[in-house]
Amino acid sequence: MNDTTTTTKLAAPAAPANGAATVVEALLTRRSVRAFLPTPVPRAEVERLLALASRSASNSNSQPWHVHVLTGEPKLRLTEALWQALDGEGRVAETEYPFQPPPEEWEEPFRSRRQTFGEGLYRDTLGIEAHDAEGRLAHHRRNYDFFGAPVGLVLTVSRSPLAGALIDAGLFLQALMLLARQAGLDTCPQASFIDFYPVLRQHLKIPDDQIIVCGLALGHADPDHRLSRHRTAREPVDTFTTFHSGETV
Ligand SMILES: Cc1cc2nc3c(=O)[nH]c(=O)nc-3n(C[C@H](O)[C@H](O)[C@H](O)COP(=O)(O)O)c2cc1C
Repeated sequence: MNDTTTTTKLAAPAAPANGAATVVEALLTRRSVRAFLPTPVPRAEVERLLALASRSASNSNSQPWHVHVLTGEPKLRLTEALWQALDGEGRVAETEYPFQPPPEEWEEPFRSRRQTFGEGLYRDTLGIEAHDAEGRLAHHRRNYDFFGAPVGLVLTVSRSPLAGALIDAGLFLQALMLLARQAGLDTCPQASFIDFYPVLRQHLKIPDDQIIVCGLALGHADPDHRLSRHRTAREPVDTFTTFHSGETV
């Protein structure tokens, strides 16, 4: 367990030039990066980020998360296995838990937002049209080498109780992504891994009582790659908030 002494040890070193200095800056500069430089991230730095992320809240402090950290050869071997599965018949028909509906079953307003996102990424950023299945697959494939990031993480949680554990995992993931920004690093959360959960289970020896939440690419963004120009918008507060106030302050 972390006490205040270890917490002091985990304090961020002086923020690097491209690192966020405040939580607001970390939130505003975090984005899903899909092109990384090969520059390695030291293991001690990954451990520091994970220790800090574990300060996240969880239901009854159950801390149901488990993280697999892949670098070097093990990461390459996993990518090879996933590409083989992608090129063959390895994609599962159904994920282990219902992560999202099939594309045709998405309802509004999420359907339109998903479409806007897809057009922004594929057409506007990569120049790949909707009908270009091959082009889209070529980009999708890069998910499985963590978009060239030197560190690939796979986050799992205890299967029981699942719903609460998934919320806890989300908090852990967000903390990790913001902490990475403070350290001058970037990330991309990747649910695409769950389409190949049997491959991950086998390679990472994930026990049956754990469920795979997602992957996370971690490293230094490649600022010159065209994918680094991709940005996403957000809806205004009044579209997702209901104030039940007695008076206006
Ligand atoms: C749970 C989760 C799973 C995601 N899975 C993928 C993925 O498999 N591949 C990918 O390129 N982006 C993935 N993303 C990134 C989202 O597309 C991205 O967060 C969203 O479009 C908003 O953009 P931003 O992160 O740049 O702000 C995922 C994000 C979340 C939170």
